[in-house]
Amino acid sequence: MCGIVGYVGNKSAVDILLEGLTSLEYRGYDSSGVAVNVNGKVELYKAAGKLQNLKHIVEKNYAEISKSTIGIGHIRWATHGAPTVENAHPHSCNCGKVAVVHNGIIENFKELKEKLEKNGCTFRSQTDTETIAHLVATKFGEVHNLTEAVRLATKEIEGAYAICVIHQDLPNTIVATRRNAPLVVGLGEGENFVASDVPALIQYTKKAMYLEDNQIVTLTPDSIKLIDIDNNPLAQHIEMLPWEPVALSKMGYKHFMLKEIHEQPDVVRNVLSGKLRAVDENVSLKEVTLDKEKLRELSRIQIVACGTSLHAAMVGKYLIEEFCEIPVDVEPSSEYIYRKTITDKNTLVIGVSQSGETADTITAVRQAKSKGSHILIITNRPDSTMAREADSLIPVNAGIEVSVAATKSYIAQLISFYLLAIYMAEVKGACDLGDLKHELIILPQKIEKVLAHKEDIQKFARKFANSKDFIFIARGINFPTALEGALKLKEISYINATGYTAGELKHGPIAMLDESMPVLSILMKGKVYDKILSNSEEAKARNARMIALTDSEDEKLNELFECIIRIPEISEILSPALTVVPLQLLAYYIAEFLGKDVDQPRNLAKSVTVE
Ligand code: F6R
Repeated sequence: MCGIVGYVGNKSAVDILLEGLTSLEYRGYDSSGVAVNVNGKVELYKAAGKLQNLKHIVEKNYAEISKSTIGIGHIRWATHGAPTVENAHPHSCNCGKVAVVHNGIIENFKELKEKLEKNGCTFRSQTDTETIAHLVATKFGEVHNLTEAVRLATKEIEGAYAICVIHQDLPNTIVATRRNAPLVVGLGEGENFVASDVPALIQYTKKAMYLEDNQIVTLTPDSIKLIDIDNNPLAQHIEMLPWEPVALSKMGYKHFMLKEIHEQPDVVRNVLSGKLRAVDENVSLKEVTLDKEKLRELSRIQIVACGTSLHAAMVGKYLIEEFCEIPVDVEPSSEYIYRKTITDKNTLVIGVSQSGETADTITAVRQAKSKGSHILIITNRPDSTMAREADSLIPVNAGIEVSVAATKSYIAQLISFYLLAIYMAEVKGACDLGDLKHELIILPQKIEKVLAHKEDIQKFARKFANSKDFIFIARGINFPTALEGALKLKEISYINATGYTAGELKHGPIAMLDESMPVLSILMKGKVYDKILSNSEEAKARNARMIALTDSEDEKLNELFECIIRIPEISEILSPALTVVPLQLLAYYIAEFLGKDVDQPRNLAKSVTVE
């Protein structure tokens, strides 16, 4: 949700911190700050609003700030306390010697704060984070060792956190730790880094070490020491990061979102690669470690996810039920976790998440795991907290997604569900899916055709950009596409958009229709085509402005629809992997035309690490 960067080495820390924060800006961005050690004194620089505001402050004081070769930085998405300068991280203790940045939530912060206040600490912010600064400073006063002070402090802290701490008297040391929030150390030559996510590191080093819960790391320019919460030294597992710095460049596109939409044909190829080799070969999904006998005996599947991932899960339900005849329940993780978890070892529980850090979904899969269910995780981040909960892990390989609005990760999740459903059907000996496999292999070319006609969608976008509301209707397997189209539009353009099953329109929503309301019908040839056509007629009779998204060449549609977005013909069952692309483009062009901040829409963050 928020982003953390820390640097200790031989270069000017602030440049590296600001670079790192820039590459994490997509995670949360209502305020930011850095702490550096200049001439033996910890100094904090903070700003409310965009990171640019912090950069201006740093620029003005650059001569001074750039002297520091150690620093910690943070970009915040407010949870406790408004996004003001006072509440921005880093936070410090009374004497100003300790500075702390923190992601997550300290659940017992009120009790800790009361105790600390009684001991003379004065709080300057409304954040839970400030308690950590005071607590570490208090412990440091007792033990005179920063690692030990942090270790003792974490024994008293409850909740989820990733923390980085510096102390004025130790101009070459950063101490960092985590519990239920990601943190990764980057190893350099004469310099070391720490960050909440790899984009902040990859331009400096590919050598990395992921921290596990309750591990504490002490970084100096030339050393990394790792201990557990009981002070036992731990072995370090160094890995090479797979990400390339180029993944963080817009590559000439105006926004990351547009670039990521265009990457989708290649993403499909990547996801299929090595898993679907030929129409007459079975899908190979060795990532699914569930014994084939057990898979055949599954009585039920539950899928938990949030937002866009939830929509992919809804398509997954349709596919698995269709091909495997196993009942599938799909539920928003945030609902699943607050009722009795009815699951067992004959239930497969699938968690779907782009980031792998969504708190609700992590809790949901942990709850299911405690009941003995096999946990299958579909994620774009095999290095994430959720991935570590997996019995079976399907990485979707979409590459890093920077735009807050998920696009290519959605397509990657969809394709993973197609592969999973085919794999399960083949294990069960259920049906011959050769035609679908052939269509999957040629899907990237169809997406490329849609992208090649993006100017048409841009024209339509301009026509409808001033609408206050928008309705998307569909039936069957494209109902989740209607929801996804509406979600994309509202999150980046702030237009009130809703997706309905077309059959539900006449049970209430039809009351809203008049000549100002655009209604976009997803009208793909197949078993619900005629039904949606009738529902579109009903909407037209109420003067709604009708838009069709279709693979039909039917001339009659010209009378009914003011605009027609035509896409290549595709089987109904695979169509969600194509219909979503023009809807992503429509949302993009409307938001772009309205001058919205497409990649960083207001109030949103890329990964939602609080419940
Ligand atoms: C929408 C979007 C969000 C996420 C949701 C779940 O474009 O990105 O709705 O899909 O916050 O996030 P993940 O998939 O990371 O669990």
